[in-house]
Amino acid sequence: MIEITKEKKSYAHGKSIKRLNDSEARIEAKCEIFEDCGGCQWQHIDYEKQKEFKEEILRESLERIGKFDEINIEPIKGVDYPWFYRNKSVIPFQKNEDGEIIAGFYKRGTHQVVDNHTCYIQHQLINRIKRYTLKLLNQYKSITVYDENDLTGLLRHLHIRVGVCTNQALLTFITTEKEFPHLKEIAKLLMNKIPELTGVVRNINDKDTNVLMGNKSYLIQGEDYIYDYIGKRKYKITQDSFFQINTMQTKKLYDTVQEDINLTGEEVIVDAYSGIGSIAIYLDDNYKDIIGIESNEKAVEDSKHNASMNNLDNCKFISGDVTEQIPNLINKDNKPDVVIFDPPRSGLNDEIINTVIDQNIKKIIYVSCNPTTLARDLKKLNKFYNIKTLQPVDMFPQTYHIETVVKLRRKS
Ligand SMILES: C[S@@+](CC[C@H](N)C(=O)[O-])C[C@H]1O[C@@H](n2cnc3c(N)ncnc32)[C@H](O)[C@@H]1O
Repeated sequence: MIEITKEKKSYAHGKSIKRLNDSEARIEAKCEIFEDCGGCQWQHIDYEKQKEFKEEILRESLERIGKFDEINIEPIKGVDYPWFYRNKSVIPFQKNEDGEIIAGFYKRGTHQVVDNHTCYIQHQLINRIKRYTLKLLNQYKSITVYDENDLTGLLRHLHIRVGVCTNQALLTFITTEKEFPHLKEIAKLLMNKIPELTGVVRNINDKDTNVLMGNKSYLIQGEDYIYDYIGKRKYKITQDSFFQINTMQTKKLYDTVQEDINLTGEEVIVDAYSGIGSIAIYLDDNYKDIIGIESNEKAVEDSKHNASMNNLDNCKFISGDVTEQIPNLINKDNKPDVVIFDPPRSGLNDEIINTVIDQNIKKIIYVSCNPTTLARDLKKLNKFYNIKTLQPVDMFPQTYHIETVVKLRRKS
């Protein structure tokens, strides 16, 4: 039984009141706090069914928003193991009723932290580091926790990043500007107790904002980066650059990008929204040049380092906004053979779409993490481009998030 909470013209929002029958897709969630925690949403659905539902959601978006009648969606590429996959966590701190520092995901629809001993989607090294860090912090009674109501206190978020193939970890305390008592001692103890830690960093976020990280970071111990591998490529990753959350599945994602590009060694490729250069560097080195564009300057520095670390001298990276840079990279004198887009959830804007259309770019590869904006953008591109393949790849088991790789070819 459902209670309708909001009615729109063509759809409604509702919340379930009572379960009359169990669906055959329903299973028992592994996690004891699943009902409360907002960290994942689909643990009560059998993994095979999760994949079917993701295909259905993608199809529904393409039909409703993209206005596609019949569209061929390849069967989703699932994961080999759907647990303990997240290589990064940003976990809010709070104090419980006993005054103890806890950290965990927010309870659904609230800002109340639900503490969890073991999170089933976080990498086990993150779980272990979080448990030990909390135990240690609770030994220092002078350490306070940020209170978003009166904007007082110190600790805001615990940020942990791990290298799944290297078994390295980087810990960042996101705090206000307040004095952090015993920070050096705490960082030393963490590094001694957790050999996988390459470094401890403090990031300052003093603003009353939902943005997690502030602009200033200080290295407290060790190094401010880790390494990881996707296939045979090695990447240097700093704490605030984008790196795909599910390291093992990223190989399948990037292999999907690579499939059927059919490079001859003469091609120029643009990798728009290049992060730390992950896709450009992953591709088989059989092209003339790749140019990556990325707005995060630190990520651009990392991508240059990553290209040279992998002995690639034909990958170049520029720092800037894709909308501003695209007319310099795609114009009547510069026509890349392939353009790869991997935008944030907001997708592509009209200026970008019109540039590739006007300059008659032959091949586009669109990597999307949001079926709604993907469907909107494909509707515009479809007037000039055929969809060759549409391949969902499941990067986020136990959640409703969907990643899709679309290959587009210019209509002749
Ligand atoms: C979904 S990530 C993709 C990164 C990379 N392709 C990968 O697979 O790891 C999107 C990237 O776009 C960058 N970004 C967001 N808005 C941007 C903009 N307007 N111009 C350039 N880069 C942007 C983000 O910093 C992020 O690194």
